[in-house]
Order: sequence, then structure tokens, then C-alpha cells
Amino acid sequence: MTLLFEPLEIRGHRLRNRIVAPPMASLTSTKTGLPTVDTLDNYRPLTESGVGLAILEHHAVHAEGRTRLRQLLLDRDEVLSYQGDLAGLFSGAGLPALVQVNHAGSYVEDDDLLDDGWLPKAPSPIRHPRSTALIMPVKLTLEEIALIPVAFLEAASRAVRAGYCGVEIHAAHGYLLGQFLSPMTNRRSDNYGGSIKNRARLLFEVHEAVREAVGDEAVVAVRLGMADTLPGAEPVGQTVDDARWVAAEFSSVGLDLLDFSGNMCGYDGHGEAWFAPYCRTVKDSAGDVPTICTGGIRSAETALRLLERGDCDLVGVGRALKRDPGLIHKWKDL
Ligand SMILES: Cc1cc2nc3c(=O)[nH]c(=O)nc-3n(C[C@H](O)[C@H](O)[C@H](O)COP(=O)(O)O)c2cc1C
Repeated sequence: MTLLFEPLEIRGHRLRNRIVAPPMASLTSTKTGLPTVDTLDNYRPLTESGVGLAILEHHAVHAEGRTRLRQLLLDRDEVLSYQGDLAGLFSGAGLPALVQVNHAGSYVEDDDLLDDGWLPKAPSPIRHPRSTALIMPVKLTLEEIALIPVAFLEAASRAVRAGYCGVEIHAAHGYLLGQFLSPMTNRRSDNYGGSIKNRARLLFEVHEAVREAVGDEAVVAVRLGMADTLPGAEPVGQTVDDARWVAAEFSSVGLDLLDFSGNMCGYDGHGEAWFAPYCRTVKDSAGDVPTICTGGIRSAETALRLLERGDCDLVGVGRALKRDPGLIHKWKDL
């Protein structure tokens, strides 16, 4: 199991092993997006779990970028002292922690958010393929698109000021940046639609803005939805070749960490380590950028196999670790 427990350094932050706790929404915030006692209680076991890196659940960068009513927000300075308490749990335990920053675009999961007649914005006026809310989003203007990197950079800078080691930009699971990547939801004919270079333009603009805002010591990761369909399924929409192009571009702009998952197909699959075939292919294009493979990894043997095969540099263990917070300590004793 030595490879699993080999340290890795990312931008001066030492990860004690190759196991990552991936972001998992806890739905514990106040309606104004502040962490609560329940939020702290939710994360406390993780700080003692023995993972090498924790990535906290998606925080909306703007109130109009929420998918749920009880979603944490990083949209204003008022959140700083509350977030400081949450970040303090991790720094106090010596566990590097990133916060995921997200804009939901048209992927609204709570109808309550639509109560006052507000309509979400998206790359194109197309109903979101995964949202249960019966809404037609409004197409973003170029002026509105220009404000999105600003919202991300402000949220990211708050995360770092609150005491986290950095942020993860969410470009997976069909949220706004994933909506731009996917031809299913992006039918624009301007510089933000069409080729993968255009569909990924906003993601790179967000990365550039965030990188500049957080300073040299902070880690900037991207969670990349690699395709709209699972491995083995007939490709529809965004393909793995698109993700390979994005990964190659990221390797040339000095991204710190690429966290792989699905885009419109979400994060769930069948069997074990369902994204591994994609992870291997996309990692080949990612140059020196360390990569994480997540999804259906439940045993030390599977985790080790992925690392040994070179499918990824780190493994994400979500629900298995949530079910058994002592899991990594057991893996260590194997
Ligand atoms: C309850 C729940 C909440 C999740 N919340 C997020 C999230 O906030 N951001 C994200 O990128 N993925 C989220 N995910 C996906 C996980 O990070 C992970 O990719 C997924 O659970 C597959 O890994 P696993 O099989 O090890 O659980 C969530 C998953 C679950 C089950």
C-alpha cells in the first residue's frame, strides 16, 4: 500500500498521502449561505479521517448561482468570520483543505429559489437536461459573461482569506462552466460557443482571474467534467477528446490540480472506479498537472491499482469514507 501513502507536494502544501475527500454538499447552511453548527459537525470526522487532502462542498459564488437554497455562499465579506471557523477545523488538524467554488447557471435543484419569478441564466435558452425544475433559462449576454470570472475571483479570494489552502473551480456535473463546455446546453454562435476552444473559453478566463486573485501560495484546482456520457456509452454532447484538449491547455497555463468527474452524466456510474478509463486518457494530455480520479472507489486494492496503472496521481473517496470515517486508518493497517 506504500504508493497510496506516499506524500505529494502541491504548490508548497504537503499532502501526507494520495487519498482525497471529494466535495460533498451537506445542505447544512442557513438560507443566507452561512455555515452552521451542523456544517462544522458534518466536517469534524473528516479532519481525523487520515486523508491527504479535503475538498469542501460547492459554495456558490453568487446568490443567483445557487442550485439549492441551503447551499453555502462565498458572495460577500460577511461570510468570512463564519468560514474562518470552518477553515480552522482543517488548519487546526494540519489537513490541507480546498473549497469548491461554483455557479449553477440553469441547474436549479430547489424550486424555492424560483419563488419570486427569478429566472436563472445559462449559455443558451435550453432547458437543463438534469434539472427537475420546469424552467427555461435566459441567455447570458456578453456583458454578463464578463462578470462571471469576477464573481469567481472574489469568492476564491474570500476562501483564501478565511484560511483555506486554495480553491477548486467546479466545471463538472452540468453546472454553469459545464453548461458552457457541453454542446447539449451551449448553442452559442459567438466566441463562447462552437469549438471546444470557444466552449472552454469561460473556464480559462475564470482560472486566470482566480489564479491572479489568490496569490502564489494558494492552490487552484479545477474539477473537470470529462464527458457528457459515461465510459462505455455512446458518446453524445461533450466528448473525452474535448476534455483532452482542455487538459493539455491547462498543463500549459500552470494549473495546480485536475480533479476528474463527469459532466452532464453527473458523478454516478456502475460497478467500481467507473471514470478510470477516461481518467487515464485525459491524464495523458495533462502533462505534469497532478490528477484525481473519483467515483466508485471503495477498497484500498482498487485505489492502489489506479495509482499503479498511472490512471491518476490521487484517488477521491466520497461515499465510502462518509459511511466509515475510519476507512483510511483501516487501509493503512492492511
Ligand atoms: C451527497 C453528495 C453530495 C455531493 N456534492 C458534490 C459537490 O458539492 N461538488 C462536487 O463536485 N461533487 C459532489 N458530489 C460528487 C462527489 O464529489 C463524488 O464525485 C461522487 O460521490 C462519486 O464518488 P464516490 O463514489 O466515492 O462517492 C456529491 C456526491 C454526493 C453523494
